[in-house]
Amino acid sequence: MMLRISVIGTGYLGATHAAGMAELGFEVLGVDNNPAKAAALSAGQVPFHEPGLPELLAGHVAGGRLRFGTSLIAAAEFADVHFLCVGTPPGPNGAADLSQLYAALDGLVPHLTRNCLIVGKSTVPVGTAEALTDRIAALAPEGISVDLAWNPEFLREGHAVYDTLHPNRLVFGVTTPDAEWALRQVYTTPIAAGSPVVITNLPTAELIKVSANAFLATKISFINAMAELCDIAGADVTLLAEALGHDDRIGHKFLGAGLGYGGGCLPKDVRALIARATELGAGESVDFLRDIDAVNLRRRERVVRETLDLLGGENRARGRVGVLGAAFKPLSDDVRDSPALDVARQLRAAGVEVTVFDPAATVPARAVAPQLVFAATPAAALHEADVVLHLTEWREFRELDPVFLRTVARGRTIIDARNTLDPEPWLSAGWDFRALGRLV
Ligand code: UGA
Repeated sequence: MMLRISVIGTGYLGATHAAGMAELGFEVLGVDNNPAKAAALSAGQVPFHEPGLPELLAGHVAGGRLRFGTSLIAAAEFADVHFLCVGTPPGPNGAADLSQLYAALDGLVPHLTRNCLIVGKSTVPVGTAEALTDRIAALAPEGISVDLAWNPEFLREGHAVYDTLHPNRLVFGVTTPDAEWALRQVYTTPIAAGSPVVITNLPTAELIKVSANAFLATKISFINAMAELCDIAGADVTLLAEALGHDDRIGHKFLGAGLGYGGGCLPKDVRALIARATELGAGESVDFLRDIDAVNLRRRERVVRETLDLLGGENRARGRVGVLGAAFKPLSDDVRDSPALDVARQLRAAGVEVTVFDPAATVPARAVAPQLVFAATPAAALHEADVVLHLTEWREFRELDPVFLRTVARGRTIIDARNTLDPEPWLSAGWDFRALGRLV
């Protein structure tokens, strides 16, 4: 008999996971406590930008294998395996707020009608799963056996469909052979296709997830720290990164120096790991992560400072800035902790007029930053701009026409804060092209 699956929480992670599970052949019920979100998904609409997901999800909704609703009781009656995909946003002091996880268990577990496996996918502080095990034991109906496993998710926004169907590794934190068996059933297809499986205990599974993100953040801040040094020493960080990357112990990925990392995961996970390690008395072990965070935030400050200097200094900043990019990275409309939006906001707060263009993130960006002006095209954002900032490395920005844009802007300085534009056409069009730690 094919296992039936529920996915609780249908944000970026849950909606993608639900569609992915349907694609793997399972009957899936997605549950969200936001009726508008559940209704949109039921109509086959994805309320955020994720390439390939609308097609996948709408196909399985139409085919009847994938449904969405708001009832945890319906999920309790329906599924053999329940995936917890709710948010764990930062609370005070950077520690993760686990209230959505507890609320999901409180709504689900008392209504379970058969033995089942609950699988945590949300990113949590180490030790959470053990605490949830106690809660589940207290809530489970008489005679029903409920197992808990932790199966962290490593998908990248913008590549979420591919990453869900072809995970680069599967981590199963389990306490029983039955839980391992069920997870192997769920992931039969990717395992057969070669995804490696790491079987471990609950705390290791939880820690694998946060340490993976902390490591990625460390790589980015390392190269950004080198970019700071390159700026002073007259060296070029892009060539430095290329040379480092040829050593396959280091590798080329995540050595892109620029404006630093953002999004709903890396910044929050670094801070949550510091908070949790400190709680556990191991603050010293992760002290270096404070510097990782600090280097990251300095990137934004540096671009703000340089822009204000170009406009004549903080007190006289009255110019116009045209900003290319609002999303925290390309192929996404996510503006959570977006470095681009942060820079735009800081400039606005300093009195600068800021007009932003982003190919996908205008609606969410406007919702959180109504003080900014949003334009419908790059040229409109650059209209009469004194300084142009390239803050999110969308591919289309590499195809802009610098000659035409020179006739649109008032000033002639562009700061490529992502180090991904080709300086040559900008320089030949007469732009003063600046980059971060890169010689142009
Ligand atoms: C990250 C991880 O890459 C995923 O493996 C993980 O599953 C996910 O968090 C999560 O915890 O859910 P994501 O937040 O989608 O994925 O974004 P990344 O592709 O990791 O990029 C993070 C940030 O780093 C972006 O702002 C990006 O612009 C920046 N970045 C990335 C750089 O500044 N330089 C680089 O070389 C690479």
